[in-house]
Amino acid sequence: DSNPEACPKLKGKRVIITAGGTSEPIDPVRVLTNLSTGTQGIELAKTAKALGAEVELIYSTISVPLPAGIKATYAGSARDLLSLLEARWDQTDVLVMAAAVADWRPAEVATQKMKKGQADTLTLELVRNPDILATLGKKPRGNKILVGFAAETAQGEAALSLAREKVAKKRVDLLALNQVGSGKGFGNVENQLFFLDFNGQLLGQSQGSKATVSQALWQQVNDLIAEKES
Ligand code: CTP
Ligand code: CA
Repeated sequence: DSNPEACPKLKGKRVIITAGGTSEPIDPVRVLTNLSTGTQGIELAKTAKALGAEVELIYSTISVPLPAGIKATYAGSARDLLSLLEARWDQTDVLVMAAAVADWRPAEVATQKMKKGQADTLTLELVRNPDILATLGKKPRGNKILVGFAAETAQGEAALSLAREKVAKKRVDLLALNQVGSGKGFGNVENQLFFLDFNGQLLGQSQGSKATVSQALWQQVNDLIAEKES
């Protein structure tokens, strides 16, 4: 039900969408991950394809099937995802970071399966993962469009102000704020996105299925491309 007429600027654009939760190894059989299902990223990929874009979905841990007919590449950890995106950077027109990137990873990865032994507690030391958007946001961008998401459990103005900090830190062209937690945000549920521009200005919002809000996100991207190209 996408209307390609509405987003003519997406046609032929090389679009990458990341989806799912990154997976940070602890040992050969264990990982740290999160509740992201990949649904929003997959919807975005399907919608972009319908709009005539050349789409690659880069997915980490997802709990829904991959869409048929869309090029899909696996990247496990945050660091794997960053290297893949850096390798693709020159051939990318639009990057949408819908992935839930783990903020932390285990400081050390055990080469053998860890044994529980006699211990009653276990402390894992975590170290900070690179911020993928902030890293890419510092590169020369030309007409590329960088889109981030902000997942916030805060509400209203508090959520908006956290989102504005993320716009500034990551230097994204567009930030989609969504509220997560208590049945919101994860999986096949109604979603609401607020769109902020490079200056943290509220551009609009969209509420509905993940397909509906995807369409609205591409509309925003379309308008930004039109602005950059003019
Ligand atoms: N992101 C990223 N690299 C990270 C963490 C997040 O590129 N290491 C991206 C996400 O894909 C998303 C955006 O940054 O598009 C915001 O992610 P979010 O988790 O909301 O923000 P953080 O900057 O990680 O801040 P915090 O979790 O502390 O709120
Ligand atoms: Ca985070």
